[in-house]
Amino acid sequence: MTQTEKDRVVIFDTTLRDGEQSPGATMTHDEKLEIAELLDDMGVDIIEAGFPIASEGDFRAVSEIAHRTKDAVICGLARAQLPDIDRCWEAVKNAKQPRIHTFIGTSPLHRAIPNLTKDEMAERIEQTVTHARNLCDNVQWSPMDATRTEWDYLCRVVEIAIKAGASTINIPDTVGYTAPVESADLIRRLIETVPGADDVVFATHCHNDLGMATANALAAVAGGARQIECTINGLGERAGNTALEEVVMALKVRGDIMPYTTGIDTKKIMHISRRVATVSGFPVQFNKAIVGKNAFAHESGIHQDGMLKNAETFEIMRPEDVGIAGTSLPLGKHSGRAALRAKLRELGVEVGDNQLKDIFVRFKDLADRKKEVFDDDILALVTATTEGDDALQLVNLKVVCGTGGPAEATLEMEINGEDKSAVSEGDGPVDATFKAIRMLHPNKARLQLYQVNAVTEGTDAQATVSVRLEEDGMIATGQSADTDTVVASAKAYIHALNRLIVRRGKTGKDVKEISYRDVT
Ligand code: KIV
Ligand code: ZN
Repeated sequence: MTQTEKDRVVIFDTTLRDGEQSPGATMTHDEKLEIAELLDDMGVDIIEAGFPIASEGDFRAVSEIAHRTKDAVICGLARAQLPDIDRCWEAVKNAKQPRIHTFIGTSPLHRAIPNLTKDEMAERIEQTVTHARNLCDNVQWSPMDATRTEWDYLCRVVEIAIKAGASTINIPDTVGYTAPVESADLIRRLIETVPGADDVVFATHCHNDLGMATANALAAVAGGARQIECTINGLGERAGNTALEEVVMALKVRGDIMPYTTGIDTKKIMHISRRVATVSGFPVQFNKAIVGKNAFAHESGIHQDGMLKNAETFEIMRPEDVGIAGTSLPLGKHSGRAALRAKLRELGVEVGDNQLKDIFVRFKDLADRKKEVFDDDILALVTATTEGDDALQLVNLKVVCGTGGPAEATLEMEINGEDKSAVSEGDGPVDATFKAIRMLHPNKARLQLYQVNAVTEGTDAQATVSVRLEEDGMIATGQSADTDTVVASAKAYIHALNRLIVRRGKTGKDVKEISYRDVT
């Protein structure tokens, strides 16, 4: 089957509605507009922009998204109540292609809440879908908790909604209860059984409570669904929804067994994933499929060696296809010699076999103590194997500070083997300390970055401090960790100065066996 013969599956994104319903995830008005624009740009067919009756803010966001969006259908959610539907229509009516999505919980548990009998609910569905259809040509209807609704009743209400004018019937697995075989079977049987089913699009909307949302959505497509409801990063109530990036990439990579296409520009996936993570305040877990930090990262020696020889050994898609610059081979305790040599080359360092052996021993020792070994650590190892000890060492630091006046730092350092000390005042303990360091080792380096992070929680947490220095276009970074933030700051500053010294050849020692260009 060629690409053009494949069935098209419509992507319905509900990041701004179901995704925003995740406890703790809220987006500002402007952020919603930005995400809607990114969704439209990446080729999402339908954007569920919000729940207009829920709040004034939701109404404004849906209206403005409807007004601005160039290509996608703009949909709003409404309960099975006439005022909800009217409000929804008010919000979406200015879209180039508006849609009203109305729903009601049809399972026994959900019918019990408004205390409606089956007949009363059926009547409500008939009335509300008809009302929506009188306002808008494009109506979607959902029996919430469809997967726990009695089969006969589900068929009955779906038929009513189709007759009342719904053109899309969404079958939500609201509580993430179904399994792939059931998901496919349910859609297939509905299409076979319900009169009029051939004239509408069936949609699948899966929650991830058992971690099966993506599998269930794809199974539903195999059963005949042609609209997948999903969110960026799988955001959504409880364990979330089907993740857009997962279904889209699964269809792309496994087109051999799932011959369906989407209109999504997959190269835009990573960017929107990062934006949604930032604006929603829900960071993406490292090992999340497609968009996690580790999705294209390989640390073990065997994997890194394979990747260096042929990327297909451990990657089933290219990072570039989802908008990532390339595979990363982070160095850690599982990395092998081949990866270390590749990293050194990337950093512009050529070493002979003997020196590589030497660096590798030090690298393993460091990796045992440190979770991730960064580029600067590698460069430091290289210089350590060729240049001996650091020129500047912290020996002692005492700082007096408080509300009474300027802070005072008394500092002792060993500089090229010689003990030196200085006392300096400053605007706070870190300023006083850095000034004392500069008194003992005068330099022109400009402090470009000073950043403190707590590694763990609590007042006794280790502080990791990063310092970036710039001198005549040369950049050096230093890091250190200590339970005392000022000590960590002094060490990080000295660390950066040592690197600067090495890089500028100020120690005057020979650089044997290696040549490296400036990498920063
Ligand atoms: O999960 C669900 O059932 C929903 C409906 C409103 C479609 O989000
Ligand atoms: Zn949902």
